[in-house]
Amino acid sequence: MKKIVIASDHGAVDLKNDIADFLRKNNFEVTDIGTEGPAAVDYPDIALAACNEFKKGGYDFGVLLCGTGIGVTIAANKVKGIRCALLFDLYSAEMARAHNNANFIAFGGRIKYAVGVHEMIEKFIGTSFEGGRHERRIAKMMAIEQEC
Ligand code: RB5
Repeated sequence: MKKIVIASDHGAVDLKNDIADFLRKNNFEVTDIGTEGPAAVDYPDIALAACNEFKKGGYDFGVLLCGTGIGVTIAANKVKGIRCALLFDLYSAEMARAHNNANFIAFGGRIKYAVGVHEMIEKFIGTSFEGGRHERRIAKMMAIEQEC
């Protein structure tokens, strides 16, 4: 079964629940690690918890959310092995997979997107990593984790 992990801070709980429902309807097993409700939580804690869960293995990808999607993206990209892409249209959704082979995607609950979040997720899921020259570039990106 396809499996994803999802997490949000207080800035995107409704969108997080909407995405979780959407993915369940698309036959994904969803591990939802919160948050629920309006109580403020710190997005780095949320991002780290989701990344640690992902790294246990068995997940196809992860979804992170905060008010803008920016904070969780920055935090997640500090975790070894994580490539989190902040999606904003269908092209970024496609390239995040085809060129960057992202293992996390992120959205903002307070962002007004010109294209539907479900459509962006469908595009990401429906795209394959192109490999080739992008393997080399990803290897260089991941080597930065060791060097810096
Ligand atoms: C929380 O108010 C807000 O800063 C957070 O959700 C996110 O937008 C940070 O990048």
